[in-house]
Amino acid sequence: MKVNNAEITISAVKPEQYPDEGFPEFALAGRSNVGKSSFINKMIGRKSLARTSSKPGKTQTLNFYKIEDSFYFVDVPGYGYAKVSKSEREAWGKMIERYLTGREQLKSVIQLIDLRHPPSEDDIIMYDFLKHYNLPTIIVATKADKIPKSRLPKHRKIIKEALGLEEGDPFVLFSSETGQGKEEAWAILEKRMK
Ligand code: GTP
Ligand code: MG
Repeated sequence: MKVNNAEITISAVKPEQYPDEGFPEFALAGRSNVGKSSFINKMIGRKSLARTSSKPGKTQTLNFYKIEDSFYFVDVPGYGYAKVSKSEREAWGKMIERYLTGREQLKSVIQLIDLRHPPSEDDIIMYDFLKHYNLPTIIVATKADKIPKSRLPKHRKIIKEALGLEEGDPFVLFSSETGQGKEEAWAILEKRMK
């Protein structure tokens, strides 16, 4: 898909603030710094619509990006960021749980995992959570540009096995640097938009 139109509609912290057109939504989940905001930017071909940072914890609210006036990417604050307080972590948990478990137009959750490392405990908890709520999931393994080609299959296998990836949940190797996986990801999203 070639995106001509993308804009941030709202940074929300509670359901009353979510957009109400009923457009399909795809939420980005993953640990802090894994590349969620970079994924959105690469997919829509914009350098910095979604704010990114080399420091974890950049995205703090549910950011709804309206694409082509027909669907949303929802950028979600990352988990596993050690520097937030317990109360902040709990508030984060409530905000995201409320969104993920109660949103009818949420078509799939795109869970990002850093291809360089085995999934963290938080990654596994998040995937289990999504499966518990029967949320269609797409696993996107980020930073593929940092792994030599010959070692990609091994890294892919480690992640799939650690998660216990369910049949029907796609696994995409992705790089926001090179654009690897972009077309594959779009093909999956277009199918799931309906
Ligand atoms: P939070 O908002 O803190 O949860 O982080 P995020 O998941 O949105 O990560 P973000 O997109 O801000 O990226 C974090 C850092 O990783 C930035 O320095 C990006 O440039 C870098 N990065 C993201 N994706 C890739 C990738 O595919 N390859 C490489 N080499 N770097 C990447
Ligand atoms: Mg972010």
